[in-house]
Amino acid sequence: MTALAETEPLAVLSRSQRAAWERDGFLVLEDFVPEAACDSLIHRSVELLDAFDPGSVQSVFSTKNQSRTTDSYFLGSGYDIRFFFEEEAFDEAGRLKQDKALSINKFGHAQHDLDPVFSAFSRQPRLAALAHDLGLADPRLMQSMYIFKQPFIGGEVVCHQDSTFLYTEPMTVTGFWFALQDATLENGCLWALPGGHRLGLKKLFRRQGDTVRMDILDETPFPEFTGTAPYVPLEVKKGTLVVLHGLLPHLSGPNRSPRSRHAYTLHVVDGTADYPADNWLQRPDAHPARGFD
Ligand code: FE2
Repeated sequence: MTALAETEPLAVLSRSQRAAWERDGFLVLEDFVPEAACDSLIHRSVELLDAFDPGSVQSVFSTKNQSRTTDSYFLGSGYDIRFFFEEEAFDEAGRLKQDKALSINKFGHAQHDLDPVFSAFSRQPRLAALAHDLGLADPRLMQSMYIFKQPFIGGEVVCHQDSTFLYTEPMTVTGFWFALQDATLENGCLWALPGGHRLGLKKLFRRQGDTVRMDILDETPFPEFTGTAPYVPLEVKKGTLVVLHGLLPHLSGPNRSPRSRHAYTLHVVDGTADYPADNWLQRPDAHPARGFD
């Protein structure tokens, strides 16, 4: 990812948006996606979820206990569409407390390549133009997640940097976070630390064969999150795109409200950067990460 020349024309962003991106490490682009496109992605997620038979596979997603929840099911999801349950979906006997459709935390991580509806959404030309405006010279769509943030049990996502989980040398991962439903303080909207992308990378999540480990690169903690400054809430309307620098500290609270907060995320890296062999997400040689074409 390179800094664009001052004179290079921008396709989607204004100069002031581009400056805000460099200053803050995130951008909020309202009405980036028509409501109908959000609805079609929600509809497709319901179809995929209906077709999912959990059987004995009940992998839980948690950002608080990564080692317990990292298993072969997760590690094999880099080129597949796999479903992960909410931590609070099960009772003490290990049975689902509610319908499967209300128990899934997210699915991922390759629907942008493996499902035609998700592929078309992920490869909308305006997004490719935006990636160019952000300085991605050879954008590669590496990872996608459909996040449900279920009513009442939607799990919190603790403060993190996406470069921890998708590392390139130099760091280029850029997150595109689409609000498919309104995101509010009540249903667990994103929170960001403006300018925090200049703090450096704190942790690195590394694959070691069939397992993973978390290396601490910098012991200095993120500023404590107390639901106020220096963090800012990103309450956004359906159809908004939030762009996140890979080094930007961000988080979201639990959803205790009766309203879900569906979001779709796409993580793009620059193909000109080195993609280490110990990133957890490794694509099969026959199916390398593709661009927007
Ligand atoms: Fe993230």
